[in-house]
Amino acid sequence: MCGIFGIVTKHEKNLGNILTAAGQRLSYRGYDSVGVATIHADQSIDLRKDVGKVQAVAEKYNFSEMNGCRGILQLRWATFGEPSQVNAQPHLDSKGLMVGAHNGNIVNNVLLRKQFSAEGMLVRSTNDGESCVHAVERHLLQGNGMLDAIRLAYQDLEGDYAFVIASGTDEKLYAIKNGSGLIAAFGEDFTCISSDLPSILPLSHEIIFLNDGEIVELTPSSISIYSAETGEKIERQAEVVIETMEAAQKGGFAHFMLKEINEQPQVARELLHLWDRMGEVEQVITAIQQARSVYFIGCGTSYNACVSGAIFFNNLANRSVIPIAAPQFMAQYNQSTNSEDIAIFVSQSGETKDVLNAVDVARQNGMRIFSLVNVVGSTLTKKSEIWLPLACGYEVSVPATKTFTNQMVAFLFLAYRLAGKDSSVIHQLPQLMEEEIRQSMQKVVDFVPFFDGWKDFYCLGFGLTYPIALEGALKIKEITYAHCEGMLSTEFKHGPLAAVSDRYPVIFVSTKRDIPFIISGINEVTCRGGLAIAIGPQNAALTENAYHVLPIVETNDEFLSILAAIPLQLLSYQLSLRKGYDPDFPRNLSKTLTVD
Ligand code: AGP
Repeated sequence: MCGIFGIVTKHEKNLGNILTAAGQRLSYRGYDSVGVATIHADQSIDLRKDVGKVQAVAEKYNFSEMNGCRGILQLRWATFGEPSQVNAQPHLDSKGLMVGAHNGNIVNNVLLRKQFSAEGMLVRSTNDGESCVHAVERHLLQGNGMLDAIRLAYQDLEGDYAFVIASGTDEKLYAIKNGSGLIAAFGEDFTCISSDLPSILPLSHEIIFLNDGEIVELTPSSISIYSAETGEKIERQAEVVIETMEAAQKGGFAHFMLKEINEQPQVARELLHLWDRMGEVEQVITAIQQARSVYFIGCGTSYNACVSGAIFFNNLANRSVIPIAAPQFMAQYNQSTNSEDIAIFVSQSGETKDVLNAVDVARQNGMRIFSLVNVVGSTLTKKSEIWLPLACGYEVSVPATKTFTNQMVAFLFLAYRLAGKDSSVIHQLPQLMEEEIRQSMQKVVDFVPFFDGWKDFYCLGFGLTYPIALEGALKIKEITYAHCEGMLSTEFKHGPLAAVSDRYPVIFVSTKRDIPFIISGINEVTCRGGLAIAIGPQNAALTENAYHVLPIVETNDEFLSILAAIPLQLLSYQLSLRKGYDPDFPRNLSKTLTVD
């Protein structure tokens, strides 16, 4: 997920500060490099860009001194390709007469780059944003005007994207929306364009929302829309938006955590689309097939995903895998692993010190190192022979949600592929996630008062739902500060059952196949006065035996185990609010633990 912003003003003025401020407002979307281009009245282009955070790059390159009457900013959140200055955006055309930047993925980027080079254009980077500029350049060179050149470029580019572009020889700013966010706005003596509402609201509340397949042409006082398919002009009135920037950054949700819970279906969809096309996935599968032992290694939530992954590999591919917390791997397997074994490290941040320490031990033992990582360019990606992107975009909230479910989706995908099964069936999962979110939201809100007064309770699971119980307990600990212990449900009677008193809450997470085990555990609790809350499939036995059921939509048990994370995420979120805490930034915690 990247961010683009563009502006056209009546007269030459200082645009550097406006563009830098827009970049800072977009930076919640995540970024690893930033660039700004301004175009002067004399048609010259001033382009400054590099790897790094907005403020640092702005100071290093004196964005504040940049003037012009048109300006473009881009924040890059790399999905593919290392963060580097040459890959940073915006990009120039071959002769430096035009400048543009995109957000999204041009999936035929490699082919296009070869074509542009063969046609004599100067291709400087491997970033797919540059392909948007050359695609327009190609058709300008054939004698088309900007609008037609963009329309013809739209036919050449494949993928979900939005780009903004300007030519020195033209006084306008252009943009096109095709799958990624883009909106336009009227200012006092300017018009502007951006990836999202938050970055524009401090400048204007007079908004024009654009649709996919639309080209927009901006002058300092006008915003014109054209169909990319037909070239016909489209009339559309501006809307006055009263939302604040802060509310808009959270997508209208009260917290980033709730926004990111709701993003889970979409990021699962994006991961599956990405991985369907990635040759690196098959290379990892081959390494697993050739390995003596396979280890899934992570910490916290990522460790819980490793446990899920190991069960998927057993259930679907008959392949045993050892899931283990990174420090424990160093203590328990440092002597018994060698070059015949492989490790797949799992880390949202790619910077967790406990994980990086374990990587060093695995490497010293000759193990091949692979990883599932969300933050591109992070240390773990550089230490891995192959790393596979979690494709979640920036996860702002400290409690991991969308990165957890995408870690499980990733392991499910690998298990299907390893088993030679048709992984396309997993494409049903995002819609099931949407149904589960819809179904759970209000049910959880209605039930959460039940936990009033309880500062300690248990969350139990078995088989596929054992790691889900661990994760649900972690979420509750993390953002409600209550002690909720995650445990194997069958272990509960071997001691912890002593904790049960009158009306003591115990959560049970169940798949269809494990209901018999769960029913036993429920009765061991209820016959001693405790109250069992079941999270599981619609099932008469669960309904009859449990005090309350939070149902999971109908599906197979592997999918159900991923869906079961959603009511637990929502329960922890609502419990945190009920206690008056901030679920996004809980006490004592940070998003990335770069210490031992
Ligand atoms: C998850 O909600 C926690 N924030 C924490 O357990 C986290 O999963 C752990 O610190 C590992 O982080 P990583 O995935 O970035 O390596």
